[in-house]
Amino acid sequence: MTILVTGGAGFIGSNFVLDWLAQSDEPVLNLDALTYAGNLQNLASLKGDARHIFVQGDIGDRALLDRLLAGHRPRAVLHFAAESHVDRSIHGPGAFIKTNVEGTFNLLEAVRGHWNALPEPEKAAFRFHHVSTDEVYGSLAADAPAFTETHPYEPNSPYSASKAASDHLVRAWHHTYGLPVLTTNCSNNYGPYHFPEKLIPLMIVNALAGKPLPIYGDGLQVRDWLYVGDHCSAIREVLARGRVGETYNIGGWNEQTNRQIVHIVCALLDELRPGADGPYTRLITHVKDRPGHDRRYAIDARKIERELGWRPAETFETGIRKTVQWYLAHGDWVASVLSGGYRDWLATNYTAR
Ligand code: NAD
Ligand code: DAU
Repeated sequence: MTILVTGGAGFIGSNFVLDWLAQSDEPVLNLDALTYAGNLQNLASLKGDARHIFVQGDIGDRALLDRLLAGHRPRAVLHFAAESHVDRSIHGPGAFIKTNVEGTFNLLEAVRGHWNALPEPEKAAFRFHHVSTDEVYGSLAADAPAFTETHPYEPNSPYSASKAASDHLVRAWHHTYGLPVLTTNCSNNYGPYHFPEKLIPLMIVNALAGKPLPIYGDGLQVRDWLYVGDHCSAIREVLARGRVGETYNIGGWNEQTNRQIVHIVCALLDELRPGADGPYTRLITHVKDRPGHDRRYAIDARKIERELGWRPAETFETGIRKTVQWYLAHGDWVASVLSGGYRDWLATNYTAR
């Protein structure tokens, strides 16, 4: 038996592949285009491990997908591959439509062909697991209840609109063709291998370099943070025992404003790697807000707990400490990510703010 993972060289995908192979001998066929966000260094510990088969390729390449599906006959496809950064979607939405919408469509069609040709009982046991986001639900008022699975879709950014479109395609492929799908909508992840364009790793990396810590607008936007290892365990549970055609929200029961997050990161760095020039909070700067910035996300994760018994294992205190320690111990990973094209992105997003 084999699972096919798309986007397994990215932040969450690589954590998922590493966790999967730490707990199971079932091989992983990992298809990743290695965009700026894909990094094979995340998977360096699997070098020479026959259970990990890496293929560099695009989910938009139908011939490649057909070959991989026919050659490896995966029992499940876990679809992580996406353009994932909201700010990049504002600067250049085209790539988001191409990968998140057209790519997911292409993958669904290839998987449908593969699944249709499977004999029973493989056909009945097959699963297509779509990894999605809480951002599809839009923005919550300060006192509104957290997102449940029945919350209306109200995406506000090109990124969230493209993910919402992909969720709808997955839903339709189940309703129309009977493809056995599972969808999970997760809140903000943090942890090892997080690309430093996103809030938490950017703050760690900038603070250590003595650079400004740019908080968008008033910094009172709220996100619900989940340690990436907990997201991976939730996906494993849903894949194993989730009801076909259902969606499951995954969250950390951990709402924090961006200001709180930055202060917590600074305090941990003050403790673990004190700066010579005083507390890291001195580097905080408020910059121009993100256009269309969603004010608050919060996940009601009771369904996955009720049906599958899943709850996050990490508290924010334990998860963020592990994360900061990981970045401090992996300066080589940070240095290689910070080279090259990433510098152009920093200029594009922050110079005019
Ligand atoms: P990421 O940007 O770190 O990684 C995405 C990966 O997909 C990269 O390895 C990239 O090379 C690959 N990829 C991109 N386009 C591709 C294509 N056309 N074909 C094949 N591979 C391609 O993203 P992430 O943060 O790891 O997110 C993974 C998934 O989880 C995404 O679908 C995202 O929407 C979802 N999600 C992320 C979060 C979060 O907080 N990061 C929260 C909820 C859901
Ligand atoms: O909610 C899940 C989503 O979380 C995922 O679907 C996305 O893939 C993931 O990127 C993330 O989206 P956000 O936009 O919430 O994450 P980001 O880390 O970009 O920003 C978190 C918050 O911090 C957001 O309110 C914007 C703010 N921010 C971000 C950056 C990069 C800043 O204030 N300054 C910054 O420099």
